[in-house]
Amino acid sequence: MPNKDAVIVILAAGKGTRLKSSLAKVLHNTGGRSLIESVVRVCLPLGAKKIVAIVGHQADQVAAAVAPLGVESVLQQPQNGTGHAVLVAKRAIGNAKIVVVLPGDAPLVRTETLKSLIATHRSGNAAATILSAVVSDPSGYGRILRKSENTVASIVEDSQLTTEQREINEINSSIYCFSTNKLWPALAQVKPENKHKEIYLTDAIAVLASKGETVLAQVAPDAREVLGCNTRADLAEVDRIFRERKREELMNAGVTIQLPETVLLEPDVTVGEDSLLEPCVQLLGKTKIGARCTIRTGSVLNNAILGDGVTVEPHTVITDSRLDDNVIIGPFARLRPGVHLKKGTKVGNFVEMKKSTIGDGSKVPHLSYIGDTKVGSHSNIGAGTITCNYDGVHKHPTTIGNRVFVGSDSVLVAPVRIGDGAYIAAGSAVTENVPPNALALGRSRQTVKLGWAAKKRREQAAANHPKKSAKKKSSPKKSGARRKR
Ligand code: UD1
Ligand code: MG
Repeated sequence: MPNKDAVIVILAAGKGTRLKSSLAKVLHNTGGRSLIESVVRVCLPLGAKKIVAIVGHQADQVAAAVAPLGVESVLQQPQNGTGHAVLVAKRAIGNAKIVVVLPGDAPLVRTETLKSLIATHRSGNAAATILSAVVSDPSGYGRILRKSENTVASIVEDSQLTTEQREINEINSSIYCFSTNKLWPALAQVKPENKHKEIYLTDAIAVLASKGETVLAQVAPDAREVLGCNTRADLAEVDRIFRERKREELMNAGVTIQLPETVLLEPDVTVGEDSLLEPCVQLLGKTKIGARCTIRTGSVLNNAILGDGVTVEPHTVITDSRLDDNVIIGPFARLRPGVHLKKGTKVGNFVEMKKSTIGDGSKVPHLSYIGDTKVGSHSNIGAGTITCNYDGVHKHPTTIGNRVFVGSDSVLVAPVRIGDGAYIAAGSAVTENVPPNALALGRSRQTVKLGWAAKKRREQAAANHPKKSAKKKSSPKKSGARRKR
């Protein structure tokens, strides 16, 4: 590994006052991950000796967010500035030759850019190498004051700029490479001489330069890589860029995306070749979509595993479920966790399912609730069928065999088993098991009363138009008024 002499330090102790949030800044989400997790993931391929996160605000939550990625956390309490944060990590950095410092709030930087920064630092024998960027609006950032074309004299924070310095559009990204033997003596000389009485890491640059040490600044290839998230607007912009990158990744892998800017994808999503994503689709979590699938407009899939050739009609919601090849689902269907639709099944509009398996080629085409149910192959579940899986205390299973026909508007009161090839008459309330190939009728017998309706209508007409003899009794004025009506 090339960077075994380096330790990476991620600054993540700050509160992020400008976000006006109860959540620590680095735990805010952009592109489907917390800011700090994104930064860690960019650093992992560098193969450094270790990655250290400086935590302070909501330290436990921040440490817990990065621990699964093998990151060690060091507590900075109180938070006396970015320079102080690095000093707090001194013991964790130990005898490493190089320390790479990154802010936990700038997650768009690419691994390649960091590799190049480290290479420049090594080849230039520098004490410090800063990743800078040239931007059109530098406000809010520290500015790079150059000593010569290649070297840096100092970094001036936005709040301390002179009117002339305000024109400088080369900014400090807060990503640096330091040689530890030069950094520690320099940091020891930095004083908290600023409005916030903090020890600024940026002030170590002027100390190093004044000692005649080499301080380099390398301009990032794309200024968008160094965007820091200080405000909600910054978070929205970084989120937008992450989503755009993910869509480009999928399009490069052979996926068609219509109106791409409306499609929201999370980082772990995969989609196979020649699949189509219509506008306003969301693919979240670990959703995995096969080849030649169509995901139509307004559908939201979270941890959904789809085979090849699946069609998801508009406005379908699928969570923690699996759909095998050639399934057709929706529009307006909802799969809650634990559903498995096997090959070629069809689930239609206004169907809700949870914890159920539907066998090959079976159909649940309209308006059903199917819960805790196993359906065999080539069965048909009629419109409006409801499995009553809950008795108010416990959930019970329903088992439906192969080639079963469940008539429309049936209720299947669980626990209940319907044997292979059975028929359930429409409108049945099924409370007992149905043997294979039987017909179950669970409704009261129909009664037909001949002529009843005609007789009823005659009676109603008579009531609405009382006989003339009855009218004569009333006063002429009143009866005239009634006739008008
Ligand atoms: C910092 C830089 C500025 C640069 C900008 C880039 C300083 C003094 N200024 O300003 O030159 O242009 O980043 O985005 O370094 N943090 C700690 N402990 C602390 C203070 C901060 O861990 O005591 C962490 C924060 O959680 C954050 C990072 O350091 O992740 C940067 O702090 P922030 O307050 O965002 O600094 P900026 O004002 O953006
Ligand atoms: Mg910042």
